[in-house]
Amino acid sequence: MTTERWSSRVGFLLATVGAAVGLGNIWRFSAVVGQNGGGAYLVPYLVAAFVCAVPMLLLELTVGRRLRTDVVSAFRSVRAEYAVLGWVVAGGVLLILSYYLVLTGWVLGFLVSWLAGSQTTFGPFTASWLPVGYFVAATALTGGIVSLGVRGGIERMATVVMPTVFVVLVALAGYALTLPGWQEAAGFLFTPQLSVLSDPGIWSAAFGQVFFSLSVGQGIMLTYGSYVDEATNLVTSSVLITVTDIGAAVVAGLVIFPIVFSFGLQPTLGTELAFTTLPTAFAAMPFGRVVAVAFFGLLFFAALSSAVSLLEVGVAAATNSTTLSRERATLLLTAGVFTAGIPSALSYSPVRLSLAARPVLDLIDESVGAFALPVSALLIVFVFVWAADAVDLRRDLGVFDPLVRYLVPGVLVVVTAAKAVGIARPTWRLLVDHARDGDIGLVVAGGVLVVLAGIGWLLRNRGLVSMERQRR
Ligand code: PFF
Repeated sequence: MTTERWSSRVGFLLATVGAAVGLGNIWRFSAVVGQNGGGAYLVPYLVAAFVCAVPMLLLELTVGRRLRTDVVSAFRSVRAEYAVLGWVVAGGVLLILSYYLVLTGWVLGFLVSWLAGSQTTFGPFTASWLPVGYFVAATALTGGIVSLGVRGGIERMATVVMPTVFVVLVALAGYALTLPGWQEAAGFLFTPQLSVLSDPGIWSAAFGQVFFSLSVGQGIMLTYGSYVDEATNLVTSSVLITVTDIGAAVVAGLVIFPIVFSFGLQPTLGTELAFTTLPTAFAAMPFGRVVAVAFFGLLFFAALSSAVSLLEVGVAAATNSTTLSRERATLLLTAGVFTAGIPSALSYSPVRLSLAARPVLDLIDESVGAFALPVSALLIVFVFVWAADAVDLRRDLGVFDPLVRYLVPGVLVVVTAAKAVGIARPTWRLLVDHARDGDIGLVVAGGVLVVLAGIGWLLRNRGLVSMERQRR
């Protein structure tokens, strides 16, 4: 049971919107939209958001507020054995955080460089050790904020950061309106193509993106929901959070694509769009340095408030399941996340660490989108809606109950299975071949696993065992 609470409804909304709006809305949304043919992607994206993400969001916030606890204890409260499933979900979130902090570090690095006037681009940046240095800085900052607590750290940060994000985003959108490529960009983003609706690939990409962008199905909103007061209307809040999150993504698209089209660049570059394509344009445009600093500053703030929410999932779970204080749990988990992120950080450094000939960071990002997100969401649905099946939960969910009970798991199973069949076999073959060649990526991955096992062992012995003793 937690006794911590957000100080107000606005504080709660700023914190949850801070968790939702992140790199996913700006960097990943524009990358995925660009690769999936612009407006073609919009219909599946909106369907996924309103038919699946809103009910999931409501489910998590409701369960969090009812049980007033973290994701692991919530699973445990349904049945003791389910605690391990809770750890799977929390572990998935910490894995996401491990590479999310690498990206946050890149953004911080670009921000500092453009502020200082050295105008870096992706090639020179990743040819240096700076990505690793900024990864350390982003990790330390995130840990520092979480260790200050729910009100004193997370809410206080969101109150400063989120209004700044929205003001800067709107200002950049105003600037983008003056660019010659605006019309073309709006056409690219808003012309839906109904013919692509039969392509399962687009649906899979849309669901992955919506769950990523809204931070839904990962226990993040469950954790933040445990700090909400009884008077807050969770249905209105869920819709508000979703609309704001989608709004932020679309406005970010209306900043990025006019720049891309005005400078004759390609919208289809994916991951590199924000880090390679845009800096080229910044270097060429009037007031480019100001625009770049605004853009990377906004991206950094958005990423930081999301990274904090990811770490809070693990810290809340560790403090409730062990006797560790918030500060110690944060320190231990930050060290674990840092260790897990090293291969991702090294994959875009002079080492160019790869696994099966792909940068480790890209491999993790893709497998998270395709598997970790839907699997965690399915675990949450099965345990809280199917296994627990509390009558009052049904009442709280109202018209959303059948959606979260049947539609969401149905869609997730189909989309994930289709994806699994498509990529499992070639990936396995590649891994086996590279293992035979003594791939250095595999050696580093093995080392990281050993350190993480050590931290898990420490958590177990220092925490769980002493908790048992206390109980006795
Ligand atoms: N929703 C945030 C973003 O879009 O960047 C952070 C995030 C949460 C990313 C959960 C990924 C994820 F699975």
